[in-house]
Amino acid sequence: MNFELTEEHLAVQAAAREFAQTELLPGVIERDEHQKFPTEQIKKMGELGFLGMMVDPKYGGGGMDTISYVLAMEEISKVDASASVVMSVNNSLVCWGIEKYGTEEQKQKYLPRLATGEIIGAFCLSEPEAGSDATSQRTTAEDKGDYYLLNGTKNWITNGSTASVYLVIAQTYPEKGHRGINALIVERGMEGFVVGPKENKLGIRGSDTHSLMFSDVKVPKENRIGEDGFGFKFAMQTLAGGRIGIASQALGIASGALELALKYSKERKAFGVEIAKHQAIQFKLADMATNIEAARLLCLQAAYDKDSHRDYGMSGAMAKLFASKVAMETTVEAVQIHGGYGFVKEYHVERLMRDAKITQIYEGTSEIQKIVISRELLK
Ligand code: CAA
Ligand code: FAD
Repeated sequence: MNFELTEEHLAVQAAAREFAQTELLPGVIERDEHQKFPTEQIKKMGELGFLGMMVDPKYGGGGMDTISYVLAMEEISKVDASASVVMSVNNSLVCWGIEKYGTEEQKQKYLPRLATGEIIGAFCLSEPEAGSDATSQRTTAEDKGDYYLLNGTKNWITNGSTASVYLVIAQTYPEKGHRGINALIVERGMEGFVVGPKENKLGIRGSDTHSLMFSDVKVPKENRIGEDGFGFKFAMQTLAGGRIGIASQALGIASGALELALKYSKERKAFGVEIAKHQAIQFKLADMATNIEAARLLCLQAAYDKDSHRDYGMSGAMAKLFASKVAMETTVEAVQIHGGYGFVKEYHVERLMRDAKITQIYEGTSEIQKIVISRELLK
């Protein structure tokens, strides 16, 4: 067993850290406050290869492994979880989904632009009445011969107004249940496709979350991903990898909070000494660091499973379940260590605490991760 990262891994980690500190950190508080999408920063992330890290170089990607992706996600998320959710959706849901299951024409048409950030993608599974219960899709994709007629509403879609390519899950044969669901590539600008208002959120406020409305949108048959009726399995398989990305986002939020808490505890004095000299603070730091290390190992294990072509459904769900809990607990403690200063925006930890919460909700709530894990255990 080898726990050492390779030189390539360390180089990716360093590049992501450098980018996060120099390009993301300066405006992060303002973007959060004004719900401003990091347009320029995302463009640069695309140019640096962070938006198509695992895509085959023949389609314009970085050809990297999932471990590199986890390391980069951690560094970006330490500073700006709004930027890292764009990165996660684009890499592990949209690019991976098209590369793994798309036709050669679909790959050539979309991947080079998605992988370089020229355009970004969105993944559209959730609906007003189908969140955790994802098989209850109400959006319909009626088979009309050479096209599908798409009708319905999707909720909470990340990159909702900034994406150009949307992977939309919809029901074609309601009588077949989840086996009648399809996954379609919908392009921005298709007639009948309307983006709803932006959600005003607790956290990841720089990210762009919208509902989407489809009214008699004609989607060509060649835009279907996989066989007829493969859409639900496509969504589940894609989300299995996506959860490794969100687990790494949670890990980054937690380790960003620990870095800030360590720094602050050595600067702030109370009762004549740095607060880091008080054992109560030391024990908090020890617990935070131990939990983060365990979360990191789970993320790397899931990434290793994926890279080794082993099943990663359970290890990815475990990583997400645990890392998101650690993110929530660690950020609350980081605010506590900062005292009153932790409660104001300049010190960053209040934002990390707000951002942490979503990691327990999207790409399957913590309860859903427990369903995935326990079903696997009881198989
Ligand atoms: N791979 C392939 N197929 C899978 C699978 C997987 N990982 N998991 C399930 N399936 C298949 C099952 O085998 C079954 O097919 P068969 O009947 O042909 O065998 C079918 O899918 C239905 O499975 P279940 O009977 O287990 O379905 P269920 O109704 O009990 O639900 C669930 C399972 C795990 C709870 C699922 O509904 C789920 O994951 N829900 C959460 C949805 C979610 O994660 N949404 C995230 C939206 S994207 C997002 O959030 C992005 C973002 O924020 C940035
Ligand atoms: P519900 O499913 O209604 O769940 C409510 C509560 O009940 C939760 O605590 C849940 O865990 C619990 N619960 C439900 N069923 C069970 C059960 N069987 N056992 C135990 N507990 C259960 N979706 C996309 O498709 N694409 C995106 O890009 C996307 N981005 C998002 C961005 C943001 C900021 C947010 C808030 C959401 C996003 N989502 C996206 C949607 C997200 O995936 C869903 O919110 C999530 O899957 C939960 O669904 P729900 O909100 O309908 O909650």
